[in-house]
Amino acid sequence: MSLFLGIDIGTSGTKTLVINEEGRILASATAGYPCHVPQPLWSEQDPEDWWSAVVATVRAVMFKGKFQPGDVRAIGLSGQMHGSVFLDKSDRVLRRAILWNDQRTASECGEIETLAGGREKLIGMVSNPAMTGFTAPKILWLRNHEPDLYEKTAKILLPKDEIRRRLIGDYVSEVSDASGTLLLDVANRCWSKPLLTALSLDESVLPRLVESEDVTGSLTESAAAALGLTTNCLVVGGAGDCAAGALGNGIVRQGILSTSIGTSGVVFVHSDEVKTDSGGRVHTFCHAVRGKWHMMGVTLASGGSLAWFRNALCESLVEKAKQERVDVYELLTREAAGTRVGSDGLFFLPYLSGERTPHADPFARGAFIGLTLAHTRGHLVRAIMEGVTYSLRDSLEIFRSLAVPVSEIRASGGGARSPFWRQMQADVFDTPVVTTNSEEGAAYGVALLAGVGGGAWSRIEEACDACVSVVSTTEATKAAAAEYDRAFPEYRQLYLSLRDDFRRIAELD
Ligand code: XUL
Repeated sequence: MSLFLGIDIGTSGTKTLVINEEGRILASATAGYPCHVPQPLWSEQDPEDWWSAVVATVRAVMFKGKFQPGDVRAIGLSGQMHGSVFLDKSDRVLRRAILWNDQRTASECGEIETLAGGREKLIGMVSNPAMTGFTAPKILWLRNHEPDLYEKTAKILLPKDEIRRRLIGDYVSEVSDASGTLLLDVANRCWSKPLLTALSLDESVLPRLVESEDVTGSLTESAAAALGLTTNCLVVGGAGDCAAGALGNGIVRQGILSTSIGTSGVVFVHSDEVKTDSGGRVHTFCHAVRGKWHMMGVTLASGGSLAWFRNALCESLVEKAKQERVDVYELLTREAAGTRVGSDGLFFLPYLSGERTPHADPFARGAFIGLTLAHTRGHLVRAIMEGVTYSLRDSLEIFRSLAVPVSEIRASGGGARSPFWRQMQADVFDTPVVTTNSEEGAAYGVALLAGVGGGAWSRIEEACDACVSVVSTTEATKAAAAEYDRAFPEYRQLYLSLRDDFRRIAELD
């Protein structure tokens, strides 16, 4: 038997699943860990927590399926992008990793633009402008604020590549995740020597690069022992979670766009050529398909906005859900479904972690606007879902304005599992939204890559064609689509009206 593992090191937890040579999921497991917020808008995690979750979930799926250690032919790794793991020369982790949704690096982004000779030149080198969540500004932050640790830094790895180091004992990344460091020459799929020179960074701190389906090594003895696998088990390049999720959803050809609502929200399109948005509003990254690219827009707090609402304001409902053995989101969605399209004039801006697309603004803040005494908790929930969906539409509109061909929208992530949110997406986009048979997103995408590296398929496109198909279509409702179309310009205007206030509020902090 040949089995393939997909491991996704996410922000709220790690998911591991196991598939066979037909791409069928045989078992899966998840394990959570905390996210530390030592200051407002900072976001950190301990790589040791990721490793414990990887070990626990791999052991759990092996146990559930009663598989033998030698059954697992290859592993694919996916992970939250942009996070920085700083290692010393003995591979000791120097500090907690700084994550993708951390906003501490506004001034380092300015510093990078200056050192690169301006924003346009920077986009020319790495296809993207400097964004606070990206890795390079975090490296400069360490240099500026924790120089002792910076001096000791011998290697800088992305989250899933730190797990790879523990699995195979080598420093390797692949082009999709490396794109989000801001140090990759995205057009040529290699580290950007001109930018590294401009920033006075030595290439030796970075891992070597491969394509996503390439084999990067096999398990060391100690990793095999920790996971209960063998040293014959291969580890393929894998992908950043956005590209991995797109593979899991079959986005490997031009014309198909995906929306994903997880902690973050992502609007993702495949591209056969490297195209950049001169305004730098959407990212241009290498795809996990050999020699292809993708563009995407990111809402930082998407499902994360609803999770915040649940955690901060719904203690008794969480308790009730536990007693009734239902998902608390199911109860919240029922309340939202009892309110009208447009939430009776209530708007929500989902900028709880600042924002990336379309407003690259670390100072942006979340807001409910338009509250009246008539509003219920259901209205608040609906407004959050609508605000998040408008923000995905913001990205969609950018792709439309760049004339990126879009013939189909595939919804994925938690937001696609909810029929209510799926309908809302179809209505807000005024376009049918389809779902696929593959609900597991990033972990599934990299399990397919492991299948390619392990010989089950010759290319990832072949794997996706064999395993991913459309299973449902949700049509837009004309009346709701018209109402959302009327409300969307107002949603957009609210950020513009509040932008200066957000800055002043940040100064008060
Ligand atoms: C992508 C991004 C997020 C994280 C979340 O650019 O920042 O989607 O990868 O896991």
